[in-house]
Amino acid sequence: MTTKINFNGEIHDHLKISILDHGFLFGDSVYEVVCTIDSAPYFLDPHLDRLFASAEAIALKIPQNKEWFREQLNITLGAAGNDDSYIRIIVTRGEGEINIDPSTCLHPNIIIIVMEISQYPESFYEKGISVALVSIKRNSRDALNPNVKTGNYLNNVLAKMEANKSGAQDAVMVNPWGYLTEGTTSNLFFVRDDQICTPSLDCGLLSGITRKKVIQLAKENDFAFAEGKWTGDELNDADEIFLTGTLKKIMPVTCLDGRPVGSGKPGPLTLKLMRLYGDLLKSAE
Ligand code: PDD
Repeated sequence: MTTKINFNGEIHDHLKISILDHGFLFGDSVYEVVCTIDSAPYFLDPHLDRLFASAEAIALKIPQNKEWFREQLNITLGAAGNDDSYIRIIVTRGEGEINIDPSTCLHPNIIIIVMEISQYPESFYEKGISVALVSIKRNSRDALNPNVKTGNYLNNVLAKMEANKSGAQDAVMVNPWGYLTEGTTSNLFFVRDDQICTPSLDCGLLSGITRKKVIQLAKENDFAFAEGKWTGDELNDADEIFLTGTLKKIMPVTCLDGRPVGSGKPGPLTLKLMRLYGDLLKSAE
């Protein structure tokens, strides 16, 4: 199990971050999670695009370009030498005075953590996981836009805690108006009357890279598909539910609020998409 940490272009085995870094003090940072297959990161371009878009959305100027990130990532992956890695790329506002004003933070810090990947157990994919529709609301787009991937995840942490407290493995959140949004680190899909549905971006959620690929697969394979607004209650009528994310890939959900979803087993459309996504990953860069 090898972990290497790249800090502004230098490789470390351990890293200590200044307590005055506003990433630590205020969650004032942006990040991405990327994984590798056969040692090569997949879908890296869209992850780097989203990192830069998130930084721009919070007026954080990243002092390097995407090529630098690609090079440093290769160096760090080489130093770690894992078969497959979990990669976390973080850009913080940097050190500043101990108050909320970011204008004293002159040098953003870039941290690339590479560690051996720890996959979800196979049984989760075979049997599905349990989720709870929690009372904690997803941030509204005009508070902290969920489509900006910042290091401020307390909203999601609280949702996860509430779900775990009720005995569920993960949470699904609605927005302040009661419309479905997403999971704590994943996007939400469900199947109703043979149609694959996912909340639209205007409900307030992260535009997931896996979500985009799944939508593409659904369209290419002529599955009935809809993006839209559905209330939390409507999820109870779902025949199938699944979550998507870089680490989760496509994760079936077979229990909602303690009740089985559909047959209580991963549904046929979920299984088809899992297969198609698996094939796509094998052919990804
Ligand atoms: N999470 N929604 C949220 C809130 C997320 O944090 C993530 C990703 C997703 C899925 O996005 P993608 O398909 O691009 O990974 C949706 C990563 C994996 C994480 O924070 O660990």
